[in-house]
Amino acid sequence: MEKKVRIGIIGTGGIANAHMRPYTSFEDVEIVGACDIVPGKAREFLDKYDLKDAPAFESAAELVKNVRMDGVSVCAYNTAHAECTITALEAGIHVLCEKPMSFTIAEAADMVRASRKAKKILSIGFQPRYDYMRQRVDAIIQSGVLGKIYYIQSGGGRRRGIPSGTFVDAAKAGYGCLGDIGCYTIDECLHAVGYPKPLTVSAIATDYFGKNPKYWPEADTFNVDDFSVALVRMEGDVTYIFKQSWAMHSDSLGDTLWLGTEGGIKLTKGVDEHNKPSRYMYYTDVNGMHIDSVIEPSIPFNAYGPHPVKNVFEAKIRGFVDAVKTNGPAPIPGEEIIYNQAICDGIYRSSKLKREVEIVIPAI
Ligand SMILES: NC(=O)c1ccc[n+]([C@@H]2O[C@H](COP(=O)([O-])OP(=O)(O)OC[C@H]3O[C@@H](n4cnc5c(N)ncnc54)[C@H](O)[C@@H]3O)[C@@H](O)[C@H]2O)c1
Repeated sequence: MEKKVRIGIIGTGGIANAHMRPYTSFEDVEIVGACDIVPGKAREFLDKYDLKDAPAFESAAELVKNVRMDGVSVCAYNTAHAECTITALEAGIHVLCEKPMSFTIAEAADMVRASRKAKKILSIGFQPRYDYMRQRVDAIIQSGVLGKIYYIQSGGGRRRGIPSGTFVDAAKAGYGCLGDIGCYTIDECLHAVGYPKPLTVSAIATDYFGKNPKYWPEADTFNVDDFSVALVRMEGDVTYIFKQSWAMHSDSLGDTLWLGTEGGIKLTKGVDEHNKPSRYMYYTDVNGMHIDSVIEPSIPFNAYGPHPVKNVFEAKIRGFVDAVKTNGPAPIPGEEIIYNQAICDGIYRSSKLKREVEIVIPAI
């Protein structure tokens, strides 16, 4: 019989369930332990999945010391990602770390270095990478049909969508909206174009909704951003305009755009509350005529490779398990996402300093 992949869970809060559901449904995976700094929480979590024999601990260090594992999911809050990830990698364990990669760029660089030193996978949990339309549109952009891409802009945004709990506590989340959904936006815009190196950023972050009791019941303790906008200069003369919101008086911050010298793609994001689907358009010019095309999915929805899976969360976990079995490569490598983290870090610093800042990525 095939040897099962032995997996542990670090941090047993909300998102850990979106890891456990797929892990426990895969026949080739065994959950062998978990930890959480809140006493009793990891035990309760494992019991909920009927894993009474799997041991529970109160720190990542105890978990990796006492349990032999092939991989771990790091589902702790953002400011604990680096510490938990490095503890696992130094023990020779592959890591799937939730997004955002970390809080600071220095932490992200430490994580990549630890992964390289241990020769173990560091993959970051951006499940929209497995979305069918997203993959198809990435492929169109990567085909070169847009020519030289010189401008990228992120759109979408939430009208009312401030979360609660650790998401709005700076000590735990580091960032607010930026770390919750902003990092997804950055990945969506930049993965498609191969993550050009970010050079400088000029950003503004605000908290007008989170701090207003009219819009947010815990306004007195809210201490993170709920909106941010940035101009990022990137290598190769690529300009990136970033925008994201947890709350605003609009149903959108505009469209997502990739503009090239030969063509452009526009993504008009759907608005959930109006049940409006997202729509991708491709624009080009043939013999001086404007051609505007809707990009329609043409293949049945089965984007996840050899293992049939139900959704992007399951695909993310399947991708990690398969990578552990082959000792890599990481499906969503830390080496790539460090550029995403560098932009988040730059936006945070620039908005605090109220000026443009240089983005310096530490040697990894
Ligand atoms: N991929 C997604 O769609 C998605 C969705 C929600 C959250 N997340 C990410 O998942 C992470 C956790 O979010 P959540 O909503 O589950 O938060 P949560 O607060 O519900 O859970 C985090 C858990 O980690 C524990 N923890 C904190 N530090 C720890 C440490 N050093 N060692 C062990 N346990 C530790 C906390 O006690 C808590 O139980 C965040 O980084 C968040 O951005 C991702």
